Order: sequence, then structure tokens, then C-alpha cells
Amino acid sequence: MIYPIVAYGDTVLKKKASAIDFSQLDVPKLAADMFETMYLAHGVGLAAPQIGKSIRLFVVDAEAMDEEKLKGFKKVFVNAEMIAETGELWPYEEGCLSIPGIRGEVMRHNTIRIKYQDENGQQHEDTFDGMAARVIQHEYDHIEGKLFTDYFSPLRKRLLKAKLTNISKGIADNEYKMSFPLLSKAR
Ligand code: NI
Repeated sequence: MIYPIVAYGDTVLKKKASAIDFSQLDVPKLAADMFETMYLAHGVGLAAPQIGKSIRLFVVDAEAMDEEKLKGFKKVFVNAEMIAETGELWPYEEGCLSIPGIRGEVMRHNTIRIKYQDENGQQHEDTFDGMAARVIQHEYDHIEGKLFTDYFSPLRKRLLKAKLTNISKGIADNEYKMSFPLLSKAR
């Protein structure tokens, strides 16, 4: 099933998401639907709040980024908790499926240690670095109610304000189905 992707301005994107109870939710099915939704939109990560669900789930598949180290980097993160972010801060221009047409440089730590469950409920604790860490950090921010635009300077935010408001209204160059908070219908 393909979900419409929630656009900037929706309150679900600003909420800290709640823990998932495996007995209450078909996690493998929802994760598969999220991958399908993400691939159609040509994303490398998608978090549950972006499909309107305030729960601690995100999926990543960064193989399309064509970095040797990202080969086979496809994962489901359930109930993730960041343990540590270390190493040097490095800049990279990020984008987000909820904020089409806007990109911006974000500084992030190179290495992370994260605890999570996979789609079958199995516990993991792993270390990631470089681009893999960055993709996870971006998605992890989503389940903490944070967007990459939150890292922008006050000036950059002010300059982007009108464009962000337009996105909330459905004036956006998305090539996938989205749901806009200031429009009643998805398109
Ligand atoms: Ni995003």
C-alpha cells in the first residue's frame, strides 16, 4: 500500500513519536508499505510520522546513493534510541520527502551508536558512520519531532518561510502523492 507523504506544517511532524507494541501492530507489513512508498518517491529514508503515524518506526535504503559502503544498507528501525553521537561534525546538503524542493546543509556527527528492534522485534545495538549514520540521524530526528530545516540559521529560516508555507498549502513540486496540512485533500 502506498501512503501519501505528509507535508511540512503538519503537527505530526513536530511530535515525539511513541513506542511500538509488536502485539498491537503488524510491523513487517507497515515497514513493507513504507519501503514501497519511499521507493516510489525516490527517497533513501522514510519515518512513520511522514505517513501520519506518530510511532517510533523508520526505514532506510541508501543503496541508490551509489556509495560502495552503502551497498545492501537496507534496514528497519523500530523503537530506536540513540545512545551516542560522536566524531567530527561534517556538512552535507540534505533534503526531505516532506519538504519537496528544499535542500540545505546540515552538520552532523560522523559516528552513531543506536539501539533498536528490527521488524521482527529482534533487539540490536550497532555503530554506523558516514552517510549511513547521517541517513539514520535524519530519520531518527523525524521520530523525535525534528526536521532538517530546524538546523537552519534564523536568517535562512526567514528567507524560506514563504516557500515552506506554500508547501503546507500544496504549492509544491512533488512528483509523488502528498497530504498537505493547509489543504483538505491529498494530491
Ligand atoms: Ni526527512
